[in-house]
Amino acid sequence: EESSKNVAKLMKEFFSEEIYEILTTAGKLAEEMGYGAYLVGGSVRDLIMRRPSPDVDIVVEGDGIAFAQELSKKIDGKVIPHPRFATAKILKEIIRNGEKKSFYIDIATARTEYYESPAALPKVETSSIKKDLYRRDFTINALAVKLNSKNFGLLIDFFGGQRDIKDKKIRVLHNLSFVEDPTRAIRAIRFSEKLGFKISKHTENLIKLAVKMSIFEKLKGPRLYEELILLLKETQPHHSIKRLADYGLLKILHPSLEEKKLYSELARAYETVQAMELLFLKEKYRKELIYLMVMLWNLEDHERQEFLQKICVPENIKKEVIENIISAEKALQAFPSEESPVEIYTLLSSLNIEIIILMMVYAQEQQKKAISFYLTKLKEIKPLLRGEDLKTLGIPPGPIYKKIFDEILKEKLQGRLLSKEEEIEFAKNFGK
Ligand code: CTP
Repeated sequence: EESSKNVAKLMKEFFSEEIYEILTTAGKLAEEMGYGAYLVGGSVRDLIMRRPSPDVDIVVEGDGIAFAQELSKKIDGKVIPHPRFATAKILKEIIRNGEKKSFYIDIATARTEYYESPAALPKVETSSIKKDLYRRDFTINALAVKLNSKNFGLLIDFFGGQRDIKDKKIRVLHNLSFVEDPTRAIRAIRFSEKLGFKISKHTENLIKLAVKMSIFEKLKGPRLYEELILLLKETQPHHSIKRLADYGLLKILHPSLEEKKLYSELARAYETVQAMELLFLKEKYRKELIYLMVMLWNLEDHERQEFLQKICVPENIKKEVIENIISAEKALQAFPSEESPVEIYTLLSSLNIEIIILMMVYAQEQQKKAISFYLTKLKEIKPLLRGEDLKTLGIPPGPIYKKIFDEILKEKLQGRLLSKEEEIEFAKNFGK
């Protein structure tokens, strides 16, 4: 079911000039080296759907690392090879909206199940991309576009990916897909939620069958964490976690997780994050970790450990989320009962933004107002005076400087000392 559609024109429209140039350069290089080169995976799916795609993936029928090294030279990038997997990443600095950004090109060697003898090379050339694609998760991710200059833009669709994109269907390529890689069940939900696609009946049955056969009990390793994080990051978490539960997959992550309460808390966390986006906070925060902390919030200490262990969270993140939850709990308990700006500031200014947003999810109405007040007003308040200014006033440098700044800050938090002149006046009189 190979199509002969050519999408070169669409590529030219869709990709930036710089990236289009990289792809045509890759195509010319493939010709020179006698390799087949293909754009594959999410970037083809996104191209056909005309959705922006973060990075590009290329598969090479040939030596992927050698190809990456040559391509990198031509486009002035930096190669990071992974010989163990016969893959490489090229890092290329590009300009987007006037800003420098890192752009990654992933290059892999076409993967085939079986050893192929060099004598069979001509046959391999046409079949190895097909085998590579056949190992992939869903039909929508198993499209390829030929890059070789001779056929640049030829869309290769062995498994009906175009039709499934049109029908908005998530469909596996074969019945053993989830047995081969159980994390694909999480991916199915992620793509379904983020693209607004339906998981096909048959694929859904295969997930249910895999659950029945306890395939997911063996689910382990860092990929589980990575997929869960992507799920939380790219979808509305209350919807996608509910769907995990519907397939019986949530309780596999931890038996104590399956509770109605979790969905409403995740929904609240999602709303909180949406509201934060409107505040245009300068600080970056990882919303997916906030959702993960919400998942952990109602668990006992030992259950938190078990859950984090099970999904193989990296040690540093594990420590961080546990500590952040405890800080948020403590801060909520210590929350000042009256609306004193100084006390609110004192409580919140030592906490990172992720802890503060987490607090917001579990705060009472009054506390929520206070936290918003802190984020929108108090947080930015700083004395206008500098050490230099105090020196000019003839105050000898020493610990007194910190005292003066602290007192000025307190005054300002209460709405006083609005101008630099007033601060100077205050500093002059300080300690008198
Ligand atoms: N893949 C797979 N099984 C997995 C993970 C990935 O078959 N468990 C394949 C898919 O074909 C996917 C490709 O590897 O298209 C690249 O994976 P990834 O970068 O995780 O996903 P993308 O499809 O690129 O999707 P996105 O970047 O939009 O998340």
